[in-house]
Amino acid sequence: MTIAAADFAQRLDRTAEDTEAVLAKLLSDTLLSDEIARPKRLMDAMRYSTLGGGKRLRPFLVVESSAVFGVPRDAALLAGAALECIHCYSLIHDDLPAMDNSDLRRGRPTLHKKTDDATAILAGDGLLTLAFDIVTRDEIHKDPTVRLLLTRALARASGIGGMVGGQMLDLAGEGRFGDREPVDVARLQQMKTGALLRYGCIAGAILGQSTQQQYQALDDYGRALGEAFQIADDLLDVEGDAAALGKPAGADAALGKTTFVTQLGIDGAKQRVRDLLARADSALAIFGAKGDVLKATSRFVAERKS
Ligand code: IPE
Ligand code: IPE
Ligand code: MG
Ligand code: MG
Ligand code: MG
Repeated sequence: MTIAAADFAQRLDRTAEDTEAVLAKLLSDTLLSDEIARPKRLMDAMRYSTLGGGKRLRPFLVVESSAVFGVPRDAALLAGAALECIHCYSLIHDDLPAMDNSDLRRGRPTLHKKTDDATAILAGDGLLTLAFDIVTRDEIHKDPTVRLLLTRALARASGIGGMVGGQMLDLAGEGRFGDREPVDVARLQQMKTGALLRYGCIAGAILGQSTQQQYQALDDYGRALGEAFQIADDLLDVEGDAAALGKPAGADAALGKTTFVTQLGIDGAKQRVRDLLARADSALAIFGAKGDVLKATSRFVAERKS
């Protein structure tokens, strides 16, 4: 069975709304124990870049990979919100003048344009640390070992060998630090983008205390989906327009980024996305009908226009 596009869109919308509500609560002015104060300028900046926008694909992956194992939705939404905090922080820093120097994000001025660089750096730092506060909370899972595994996996996906490391490779590949080095695009993209998306997929297996085989299946699926997602992003940078994207188009070429579009051409990059979709589908085979929503998710990732 496949999921109709309208049903999928409705499902994605519902999770986006629920995620928004969870994030709004997490970013309220109410102090947690041991917090001394929540400075208004910092909170306003964090809320600006986290609320009211984005596809919320990463929380959706956490919710849907969790649903495969019957994990309570509220726990999955909380873990998804933690992942979205890391994602939003990565976007704030990615847009800074010292990185991609971008003025538009989610259809609005980027945070450093709206405020200033220091506020944007600190808002990113605040979101990064908040994410780790969230994944360790009791409501995520009653077993502390599960919370520990979820936390460590989030650290690995976000850090040196994941998103942060990938961002460094991305800048080095532009020739930012001297000579342009040959770029291993697959590795760069697995790290800068793939790692967080893959985390969204394995989070359900961790929360659901899956078998090793089920974990491996979601891991394989997440890797294929993550790579397809970034190639689609690179294609949109060439073929899309800023109005639909809510961020500038043509930015990669202007910065001299190496992507699968520059290496394989548009048709070659599209073929690679199709191959990755087939890989994602076959990884889900062991779940039968329970994998249908995730299957529809990889279609959405490949065909999205924003
Ligand atoms: C954009 O991610 C950054 C990349 C990793 C390419 P998304 O396309 O998921 O951005 P939002 O969250 O929907 O704005
Ligand atoms: C961003 O990749 C990846 C992260 C933020 C970690 P891009 O630089 O391609 O993302 P966009 O195109 O600005 O959203
Ligand atoms: Mg970038
Ligand atoms: Mg960028
Ligand atoms: Mg991009």
